[in-house]
Amino acid sequence: METRILGKDLEVSAVGLGCMGMSHAYGRPFDKKEAELLLEKAVEMGCTFFDTAEVYGTADDPHHNEKLIGEILKPHRNHIKIASKCGIRFDETAEGVNKPLIPDGRPETIKKSIDGSLKRLQTDHLDLYYIHRIDNKVPIEETAGAMKELMEQGKILHWGLSEAKEDIIRRAHKVCPVTAIQNRYSMMYRDYEALFPVLTELNIGFVAFSPLANGLLTARYNNAAEFSESGDYRKVMPQFSESGIKENEKFLAWIEETAKAKNVTPAQISLAWMLAKKPWIVPIPGTRKIERLEENLLSAEVKLTQKEVNEIDSMLEKIPMSQVFGGSKVERNH
Ligand SMILES: NC(=O)c1ccc[n+]([C@@H]2O[C@H](COP(=O)([O-])OP(=O)(O)OC[C@H]3O[C@@H](n4cnc5c(N)ncnc54)[C@H](OP(=O)(O)O)[C@@H]3O)[C@@H](O)[C@H]2O)c1
Repeated sequence: METRILGKDLEVSAVGLGCMGMSHAYGRPFDKKEAELLLEKAVEMGCTFFDTAEVYGTADDPHHNEKLIGEILKPHRNHIKIASKCGIRFDETAEGVNKPLIPDGRPETIKKSIDGSLKRLQTDHLDLYYIHRIDNKVPIEETAGAMKELMEQGKILHWGLSEAKEDIIRRAHKVCPVTAIQNRYSMMYRDYEALFPVLTELNIGFVAFSPLANGLLTARYNNAAEFSESGDYRKVMPQFSESGIKENEKFLAWIEETAKAKNVTPAQISLAWMLAKKPWIVPIPGTRKIERLEENLLSAEVKLTQKEVNEIDSMLEKIPMSQVFGGSKVERNH
């Protein structure tokens, strides 16, 4: 697969794999065999960019994802890039499916977290380490300072911020150059396009999370879709509600048509669209199914012209669509 450079020199496959769904937010966690089949296929297809986080797990096994990834990808460690995240925990006392997040960007928390992540991921360094959410109680300069120390110690090679805006990015970058921003980005959530000039100016890459709008953009979900397993966030996502599915009917029909005209699938057109926007955008779609993994990774081969991207953009401006999941509520009480 073709590769892309994030920041100055982090080379990753043009499409990465979001590993969260194997442990968190999309139903029953994977067992080792299931994860092995998927991850080995990803490696075989040339995917070299794997995204996880300290908090991707379950109430019983809060670090399930890092442990799984670490064990299975160990034999490939020298040929792949692993990104993980620190700086949040879930409020397990809360009711409901998607527990609120408690941000914690204190240097002492970050320094403790990295050692846990390295151990679980069975490696002596991470290629990319993000602060998962911005903690408004801690000046970002302190968080950036802690990341700089981890780099000096060789525990991380690059760092980034997730769900960050311009002011925070600029302040953080002054303390320690940032390699990538990981924010929500899809045809249904384009707010962060406003950041693109800033990222160009600072030479920072953009890793797009939930690039398929949690699956909706694949046009494979309709009113009959059931998300009954406990811990499946899709049951509370507005785009999958009965009214959301209805509101998106025309939109999805248009994506299907657009994909068909290119002889690709809706998932592939969604990913190819963002790949065509900037050479430093890398989507990390998540899936638990091998055939969908293949489909998503092959989107790196789908090329859209500037004219096609413009046509899609102008349609996205006017075609009606529902609200899309905007993430779990962030609490402020670490
Ligand atoms: N930084 C953050 O705060 C943050 C937040 C959320 C996610 N992330 C990262 O971003 C990654 C991706 O985000 P995401 O998983 O939330 O959303 P996503 O990639 O937009 O969508 C994942 C969903 O789409 C379905 N799907 C994927 N490919 C498909 C295909 N070709 N056809 C039909 N359905 C398909 C998957 O179902 P199946 O599994 O059944 O295929 C899954 O339900 C995560 O794994 C995680 O690493 C980061």
